Amino acid sequence: MSEGIHTGFDEQQYPHINRGLDGIVAFSTTKSFIDGQKGELIYSGYLIDTLAENATFEEVCFLLWNDRLPNAKELESLKTLLIENRELPQPILDYINATDKDAEPMAVLRTAVSMLADFDDTKGKYDPTLFEGQAIAITAKIPTIIAAFDRVRHGKDIVAPLKEGSTAYNFLYMLNGEKPGEQAEKTMDLCLILHAEHGMNASTFTARTIGATQSDMYSAITGAIGALKGPLHGGANTAVMNTLLELKEQGDDADAVAFTKKKLESKEKIMGFGHRVYKTFDPRARLLQTMAKDLSEETGHQELYKWSMDMLNTMKNEKNIDPNVDFFSATVYYSIGIQPDLYTTIFTMSRVSGWTGHYIEQAANNRLIRPRALYVGEKHLDWVPVEDR
Ligand code: CMC
Repeated sequence: MSEGIHTGFDEQQYPHINRGLDGIVAFSTTKSFIDGQKGELIYSGYLIDTLAENATFEEVCFLLWNDRLPNAKELESLKTLLIENRELPQPILDYINATDKDAEPMAVLRTAVSMLADFDDTKGKYDPTLFEGQAIAITAKIPTIIAAFDRVRHGKDIVAPLKEGSTAYNFLYMLNGEKPGEQAEKTMDLCLILHAEHGMNASTFTARTIGATQSDMYSAITGAIGALKGPLHGGANTAVMNTLLELKEQGDDADAVAFTKKKLESKEKIMGFGHRVYKTFDPRARLLQTMAKDLSEETGHQELYKWSMDMLNTMKNEKNIDPNVDFFSATVYYSIGIQPDLYTTIFTMSRVSGWTGHYIEQAANNRLIRPRALYVGEKHLDWVPVEDR
């Protein structure tokens, strides 16, 4: 019997609807742990603060794919593989050159990642022995896609990836056409570490749901990019920057407190605040806050940090809501010269490590993901011919 037809399913057995699957535990995972009350985040055993202080993004990728840190040889090998996988097949470069220059960067990234499957030697075959290689290929190519599209839309030549250097270093090089300084590389690397993994968020759930049908990893990541793009998820960082730029237009003495209160009075959501799991300060926001303060001072954008703090205090006083990861990351990216509509693509560049880690984990203990919906429509209606409706 097809869906939509009454199947005799007893709704009384399922009387509760958890809107937004709030509080539903659907999987066990070793990828990350969030204590929403304490404001604690752990990736495969390590506190985010420990990783932020000591790790590189490449080490975090290995951690999320293998549930342990790499030894020196394994890390070198992973770095080499990531470097070797950076280049894009010509048809994808042709697509990037040909597409609308006004296209949304996240939409271009979604299409290009989907195309990558056609050029993968494994054709995205569903085989656990191939998964890590596929994860490396996707993770290595995403930064090249983002930088290439940004160059093309600004009428600049695409910069080929370097055969050396970290993911962060190479990305900034491809984006700007010049090698970044140590501070910019470090900032970028830290942002990648902080965004890599975060439990059963909407995009990770999407990746697992697609993976659970035994569809290929490219499909799972393409779907996840679509989910991350939305303003209630990863798209919030661009929305935060647009808010700050709206204030900038009002001049240096813009009143961020009045601005925030007005938005709240008209029942608008303030982007970069609130979280389904954290009921306190998001630990990633705390780390990004320090970076945003230092960088905005160094680059002469102090007003952005001041307005951010005015908004933060107003949200705390008026709604008792704290900032999430997207709030201060906006100022950090702005300070290192990245255009606002690229912010969510950078989130993707990092989160792909978590998505692929979850895809691998799902495959190791798979069951099709198939919840139910409580039917609240009418039943057994009489058929009315089209001319009589
Ligand atoms: N601004 C104003 N009010 C808010 C906000 C906000 N940012 N977030 C939550 N609230 C209020 C909301 O209006 C509601 O109030 P009331 O009960 O009076 O109607 C209450 O808090 C609960 O909100 P909700 O939307 O039902 O909560 P949720 O758990 O479904 O949503 C959220 C979580 C992240 C979607 C939401 O906080 C939000 O829309 N925030 C703004 C967008 C954002 O910053 N998203 C990034 C999330 S973190 C990074 C990521 O996952 O990508």
